[in-house]
Amino acid sequence: MEYILYEQKGQYAILTINREKALNALNSQVLDELNEVLDNVNLDEVRALIITGAGAKSFVAGADIGEMSTLTKAEGEAFGKKGNDVFRKIETFPIPVIAAVNGFALGGGCELSMSCDIRICSDNAVFGQPEVGLGITPGFGGTQRLARLIGAGMAKQMIYTARNIKAPEAYRIGLVNEVYAAETDADGNVVKSAGEVLMTSAEKMASTIAKNAPIAVRNCKKAINEGLDADMDEAIVIEEKLFGDCFETEDQKYGMAFFLDKNKEKVKEPFKNC
Ligand code: CAA
Repeated sequence: MEYILYEQKGQYAILTINREKALNALNSQVLDELNEVLDNVNLDEVRALIITGAGAKSFVAGADIGEMSTLTKAEGEAFGKKGNDVFRKIETFPIPVIAAVNGFALGGGCELSMSCDIRICSDNAVFGQPEVGLGITPGFGGTQRLARLIGAGMAKQMIYTARNIKAPEAYRIGLVNEVYAAETDADGNVVKSAGEVLMTSAEKMASTIAKNAPIAVRNCKKAINEGLDADMDEAIVIEEKLFGDCFETEDQKYGMAFFLDKNKEKVKEPFKNC
């Protein structure tokens, strides 16, 4: 792998887009490698995944403009499909995926973050869909996911104006769940950069998720994702099936027996994923 770093840390893993010289821009090779790494995540062990970008400046500064500059109509469509297929894989990945946005999340970068379940960022993060300024539309799901996340009106404004927004505005409009600043000591010296605070927080969130019953967490993701694409009558049936699916699992039996046991001295065992 030239452009992807992957590290499993117990029950969660960190996937880093590692093309720092080009601000982690997504060319075909990065997308292929991303696809391959996702296919090889050990889902028997890993219960949450963090996606971030290498360096302190950029999460992902978009699809690779150099590569796109000479594409024909058919090649452009195929490039869009390549990105969309990988991002849909992330969106429907069995376990939760957290985007730790450590700087620029523009075009394909913003789109990558939106294919993740949860977005958190450092206070230097910048989000935007600059595509119309380049003569194209967003092509890795931006016209669809941005409107679903922040509403059609605000999405249209961001996409038509191609205006980038900073972390506080992304937080205000609900594009990110949390913004992290650097930690300073009493004299104002930085003791932990915003990027470091972001990663510590992302890892804490991932390990909190990983401590919960894995089958239940996966079923929650499926229920939310599939329910959002259905009308309410179908959506509650989707939930019923996934709710029912948790019963008779070891983890459901243990989780409920632990609650019902009145012995306050007992210590909760880890869930077994079965
Ligand atoms: N594609 C290819 N290379 C990129 C890139 C991209 N999207 N973004 C940055 N780079 C490269 C630059 O060309 C530069 O390379 P060189 O050192 O070889 O010249 C390097 O990364 C550093 O970038 P800058 O010198 O431009 O850094 P900066 O700090 O001055 O600016 C920036 C940072 C504002 C993010 C600027 O790089 C920029 O505007 N990048 C493009 C952002 C963009 O338009 N993204 C959308 C792409 S279209 C898309 O994503 C379509 C889709 O939906 C699928």
